[in-house]
Amino acid sequence: MESSDVLTLISQIEQRQTMDLDLLSKFIKSVATRNIDINYVEQWLKAVHSNGISVNETTILTKGMMESGSIIAWEDNSLVVDKHSTGGVGDKMSLMLAPALAACGLKVPMLAGRGLGHTGGTIDKLESINGFNCSLNPQQMQDQVAAIGCCIAAQNAAIAPADGLLYAVRDVTNTIDSIPLITASIISKKAAEGLGSLVLDVKCGQGAFMQSFGDAEALAKSMVGAAQGLGIKTIAQITQMDYPIGRYVGNSLEILGSIEVLNGQGSRDTRELVVLQGAALLVLSGTASDEFAGQVMMNNVLDNGKALAKFKQMCLAQGVSQSDVELLVRQPTKLLGKSKQVTSVHSPSQGYVSAITSMTLAEIARNHGAGRFAMEDTIIPEIGFEIIVERGQAINQGETWIKFHHNVDLTAQEQQSLADCITISSKPNKPKPRLIEIIR
Ligand code: URA
Repeated sequence: MESSDVLTLISQIEQRQTMDLDLLSKFIKSVATRNIDINYVEQWLKAVHSNGISVNETTILTKGMMESGSIIAWEDNSLVVDKHSTGGVGDKMSLMLAPALAACGLKVPMLAGRGLGHTGGTIDKLESINGFNCSLNPQQMQDQVAAIGCCIAAQNAAIAPADGLLYAVRDVTNTIDSIPLITASIISKKAAEGLGSLVLDVKCGQGAFMQSFGDAEALAKSMVGAAQGLGIKTIAQITQMDYPIGRYVGNSLEILGSIEVLNGQGSRDTRELVVLQGAALLVLSGTASDEFAGQVMMNNVLDNGKALAKFKQMCLAQGVSQSDVELLVRQPTKLLGKSKQVTSVHSPSQGYVSAITSMTLAEIARNHGAGRFAMEDTIIPEIGFEIIVERGQAINQGETWIKFHHNVDLTAQEQQSLADCITISSKPNKPKPRLIEIIR
C-alpha cells in the first residue's frame, strides 16, 4: 500500500471525516500480509485510539480483519452459535455453555483465548485437564462440530491474522483500550466461525476491564453494531462483575466448579449465568420460543446428564483418554493437580457477607501463577480460590469464608489484602442480580 494512502486515512481520522472505505479495506489487507511499514500501522492505531471511528467504519474494519484469514463456511448457519465474554473473575461459563448448547441441538465452534490481565482464559483452564488439545485448525473445528456439536479451540494464526499484528502493535503503543479496536478484534474472530447468532457478556464492575456502566454500555453497543452489521443475530448482556462468579477462581478449580454444574449440582450463581447466556442463544437461533422456554431447555440438559455427556464427548474428541474422562467427571480432584498448601481465611466479625473484592483475589492468584504477566509465563493450574460463602449469607466471627490453594507462602501484605477482601455488614442484604441490561 502506498504511504500516501495510509497518510490520507490517518488525516481523515484526525479530521473526524469518514474514512475512504476502499482505502481502509486495502490497509487491512496490507496489515494481514505484513506488507506495510509498521510505523504507519502505529500512527493509524494512535489516530483511531485518540479520535475514535464510526460504527460503520468499525464494521468495515471488522469485516476486513475477518476476511484476512479462514472463515468457517456452513451449509446452513442458523444453528451455529457462540458467546464472548469480556472477562471476569471466576468466569468459567464457556466450559459448560458449549456442551450444554450442543446437548440442546445447537452447533458451537468456540474459539477461546488464554488469560489476559487479571482474568483467566478458557484455554488455560481446559489445558489443566491432562491431554486436552486446544490446537484445532478451522477444518478440525468444523469436523468436530459436525460430529458432536461443539469444540473449544485456541485462537490461531489461520483466524483473522490481521488481528495478530494489530494486537501486538496496540500492546506496545498503549492503544489497547479503544472501543472500536477492541470491537474489531473480538468480533472479527467470532465472525470467522461463520456464526448465525452471538451473545456477548460484557462485564461491568471493579473485577472487570470496563469498570463503569457507561464504558460497558458503549463497548456493548459497538460490538452489537459491528456483529449485526456482519449479519450475525447478536445481543449483549451487561452483567455485574464485582463479586467473583461461583465458588471457584483459578484454572483447574474452575474445571472442578464446571463439572459440579454439569453434574446438576454446583454453584447457583454459575448456573444462573450459564442458563442466561444459553437461553438467549436458543431464542436468537429460533430453537426456543422465548427466554423462559430457553431456560427450561438449559436447565433440563444440566439436570438430565446430557450436557455432561457432551462435555465428555468433547474431552474425548480433543485428546483426553477414556479413563481420564471418567475419572474427571466422577472424582475430578483425583485427576486435577493439588496445590502444596491450602490456607483458610476467617471472617473478622459476625454478620452478613455484603462484598468480596474480586480484583484483589484475581491479583493474588495471578501473583502465585494462576495468570500471566507476560505471554510467555507458565500457568500453574492448581493455584486459586475456593469461596465458601455466598453473597448475602450470614456468617459467624472466625468462620472460614475462603480457602487459597497455593504452592509458596503468602507474603504479609498478601495476607492483609486477603483479610481485607471481605466486607461484613450487620444488616441482611439481598444480592443484586448479575444481569444489569440487555443491548439488542
Ligand atoms: N480480547 C481480544 O481478543 N481483543 C481485544 O482487543 C481485547 C480483548
